[in-house]
Amino acid sequence: MALDLLAENLRLTYADTRGGSFSVFDIPRLKIPAGAHVGITGPSGSGKTSLLYVLTGIERPTSGSIRWGDVAITDLSERARDRWRRDNIGFIFQDFHLLPAMSPVNNVLVPYTFGRWSVPAEIRQRAADLLDQLGAPKDRHAVSVLSRGEQQRVALARALLNRPGLIVADEPTASLDAASGQVIINLLFDMAKQTGATLLSVTHDPHLIERFDVVYRLQEQSLVRFDKGTVGQKPVVSRAGG
Ligand SMILES: Nc1ncnc2c1ncn2[C@@H]1O[C@H](COP(=O)(O)OP(=O)(O)OP(=O)(O)O)[C@@H](O)[C@H]1O
Ligand SMILES: [Mg+2]
Repeated sequence: MALDLLAENLRLTYADTRGGSFSVFDIPRLKIPAGAHVGITGPSGSGKTSLLYVLTGIERPTSGSIRWGDVAITDLSERARDRWRRDNIGFIFQDFHLLPAMSPVNNVLVPYTFGRWSVPAEIRQRAADLLDQLGAPKDRHAVSVLSRGEQQRVALARALLNRPGLIVADEPTASLDAASGQVIINLLFDMAKQTGATLLSVTHDPHLIERFDVVYRLQEQSLVRFDKGTVGQKPVVSRAGG
């Protein structure tokens, strides 16, 4: 089920090689309402992937809090956070993170198996049905032989298997041709709308950007909100907020 995602005083710094550290972002407040479709854009290296990792509990922020409804995910143990992520987040990684030697169906089942002993027949069937619905070939022995667009569909099916309340996609149309990109965009939005899930995606793709309710730009450690259609131009609101 989709719930409000609220981040406050969110800071991330990474260690550098000289024993110091550098700041990736400093975000006083970001609220992503349940069921919203939100885009994040910004230059390469500005910290977009890192922000998605922090918001979904893959990575811990240096300071600050993140709440999903009433759950403060920044207060959870690593194990509880992993379980929370399995139950609530569908993540489509920038480079897919598929297991090359495994079949499409088994790739889709990977997050489901976390912390569980076996896969019920109906879940295996749902994985196969999702691959059909998304137009991904499910009869290949290994995902390594799939085209990039096909791999993207397998990654999407894997993200959707647990019916997540929050679908997160990191540049889901990057390096797809325009037609395949459009198919993935339509599938993402159809799936989010069918389940009422919140959709949060990093992208540079104008076709994807035009579909969001709200777009933010991450630049020079700040997250700035843009009016639709002015992405890449000057900000209309100076800071992220709810
Ligand atoms: N584990 C890490 N340790 C140190 N620095 C890191 C780490 N992960 C990322 N960085 C640095 O943090 C910055 C942000 O990286 P990130 O991958 O979030 O950028 P991005 O906006 O997603 O870039 P792109 O558009 O190229 O995908 C980069 O300068 C990167 O080198
Ligand atoms: Mg990235």
